[in-house]
Amino acid sequence: MVQTFVQSTDDVVKFLKDQHNLIKDMFEEVFSASSDDARRKAFTELRQLLAVHETAEEMVVHPRVRNEVEGGDIIVDARLIEEHDAKEQLSALEAMDISSKEFLDELTLFRGAVIDHAEREEVEEFSKLQRELDADDLGRMAKAVMAAEAIAPTRPHAGVESAKLNFAVGPFASMLDRARDAIKSAIA
Ligand SMILES: [Fe+2]
Ligand SMILES: [Fe+2]
Repeated sequence: MVQTFVQSTDDVVKFLKDQHNLIKDMFEEVFSASSDDARRKAFTELRQLLAVHETAEEMVVHPRVRNEVEGGDIIVDARLIEEHDAKEQLSALEAMDISSKEFLDELTLFRGAVIDHAEREEVEEFSKLQRELDADDLGRMAKAVMAAEAIAPTRPHAGVESAKLNFAVGPFASMLDRARDAIKSAIA
């Protein structure tokens, strides 16, 4: 399980905003790392946090915005494109030489995109969910986000941005596969 470093809370918006701030701090750690090893470690942690954070948003937050917020489909479709692009950028970064200038240049662009994406979520999704949903509902969402993050893949999977596809090929599918395998071997 990835350590998501943010204190659990029963407010989904606070949880995700805290994670956005943590993601910004982790970018700084990658940039300011004093050795290649330290940079690689910081980048791996950033990549893992981004992967589980975005999966949880795709499973829990965006579907709710589609249902509750006026114009939700347009808002969410734009976020999913950004998340798809981010996963591709992340995979590209992973393949680069971490000590190269190319890596740092690409990371600078990527950080800008991630921060813009997070700000749009906070303004266009989180604040509207806060307005539309009561505390119980936001609490249930917080639990669902934390549960999704606990089992989400720690590598980015571009192309599975919808809840349905995450269920089909994401962590939930592999858990189902494992359960099926365990049952098969138990009754063989
Ligand atoms: Fe996101
Ligand atoms: Fe986010």
